[in-house]
Amino acid sequence: MAHQLGIGLLGLGNVGGGVAHLLIEGRDRLIERRGLQLEVRRAAVRDLSRPRRVELPPGVLTTDPGAVVDDPDVQIVAEQMGGIEPARTLLLRALRNGKDVVTANKAVIAACGDELFQVAAQQGVDLMFEASVCGGIPIIRSLTEGLVANRIQSLYGILNGTTNYILTRMTEEGGTFEEMLGQAQAKGFAEPDPTFDIDGTDAAQKLVILARIAFGSAVRLEQVFREGIDRIGSQDIAFARELGYTIKLLAVAKLTQDSRLEVRVHPAMIQAQALLASIRNEFNAVEVVGDAVGTQVFYGRGAGQLPTASAVVSDIVDVASRRSGGGRRAENDWTREERLPVVPVEEVVTSYYFRFVVLDQPGVLAQITQILATEQISIESVIQHGRSEDTVPLIIMTHEAPERAMRRAVARIDRLSMVREPTLVIRVERP
Ligand SMILES: NC(=O)c1ccc[n+]([C@@H]2O[C@H](COP(=O)([O-])OP(=O)(O)OC[C@H]3O[C@@H](n4cnc5c(N)ncnc54)[C@H](OP(=O)(O)O)[C@@H]3O)[C@@H](O)[C@H]2O)c1
Repeated sequence: MAHQLGIGLLGLGNVGGGVAHLLIEGRDRLIERRGLQLEVRRAAVRDLSRPRRVELPPGVLTTDPGAVVDDPDVQIVAEQMGGIEPARTLLLRALRNGKDVVTANKAVIAACGDELFQVAAQQGVDLMFEASVCGGIPIIRSLTEGLVANRIQSLYGILNGTTNYILTRMTEEGGTFEEMLGQAQAKGFAEPDPTFDIDGTDAAQKLVILARIAFGSAVRLEQVFREGIDRIGSQDIAFARELGYTIKLLAVAKLTQDSRLEVRVHPAMIQAQALLASIRNEFNAVEVVGDAVGTQVFYGRGAGQLPTASAVVSDIVDVASRRSGGGRRAENDWTREERLPVVPVEEVVTSYYFRFVVLDQPGVLAQITQILATEQISIESVIQHGRSEDTVPLIIMTHEAPERAMRRAVARIDRLSMVREPTLVIRVERP
């Protein structure tokens, strides 16, 4: 006989509607495959009159999320409301009520993970969050289960679909950042307010979660160096192509030789033939290097109703299987982790692409290269096209140098009278 469990949903919007749909449509399949009869018993929304993707029995919908987390007939709470509050308070209440919790909410896990994992451990219940990073890609499960025998050495991710869409369209169609952002919004990939996508916050929240799982280290969002894509122009895309590179918003987490962590999100030039360079449009990918397994790449849809709901339901089924089998909570106790020191960004060493906007005069290149030389930044290549009355872009690719030296050099160069705009710097990465 199938084991019956009550599911409470916090939020029945885009993701929540998909979760309810998969639970209801897939009901028989879950009974057949896993012996689980999962029933949506409560679902909290803000507006009862909004049309929903699924029709729920009378009395299930409520505008009081407290009624979901306190309901004795609900054993598993799945949260897909978003934001930090009231989600944090509700999740804590559900955990303290002895319920297992599944969430798609990266903001609350990135900001309040320590507290939530601690309460889950104290209560002996599960807190699962597969959908919070890369939507439908089972990256959390792969790291915790498939790669458990590995010491993870590095992780490179394209974690934000909106920015990847914009950069791909700029590369393939040649449009401007603003045009392609408009296109992403029209297609529903970008939020009406896309600030957190564009400035790297969304990817940084996901990186905080991945770093916790991959390196067992609690990193705070403030420790992740973040730079957005809004200064990337069509000309940078064109120069990158000329130089054999593609520009991506890259999330990087790396273990250094002295057991510190580099954690950063910024636009990066990656070689055009690298696997991550081929991740197009709204797709996500994560490249993980483990000491035993070597390089593995996870690829798929990082957002969207059904891909994300698929990950939520997979967590629900996991937790429900354990509950029904009388099993203990997952042994992933994220409260027992170390806190690896984070490398200050000034110490990070990469190569650089510089776009200087300079007056087209003799001697400019000499002055700039002289400053780079005094900061011990050696040049790999230079591009200077055409002559004009006005300003011209001067492109310099460098060899590796510490961020601190790069910043000092750029500050000095930007003070030169023939340099007419703040210099654009893009770090070069070799995933
Ligand atoms: N969309 C994606 O592709 C995606 C991918 C991965 C992760 N996520 C994460 O999933 C979460 C949900 O995203 P979404 O796109 O589904 O958002 P959404 O469409 O705006 O849905 C939010 C839902 O929560 C309900 N809600 C919000 N505040 C509430 C409150 N105080 N009390 C009761 N109900 C409340 C809303 O009610 P009403 O319907 O009445 O307004 C709505 O049903 C977010 O954490 C997001 O980061 C989303």
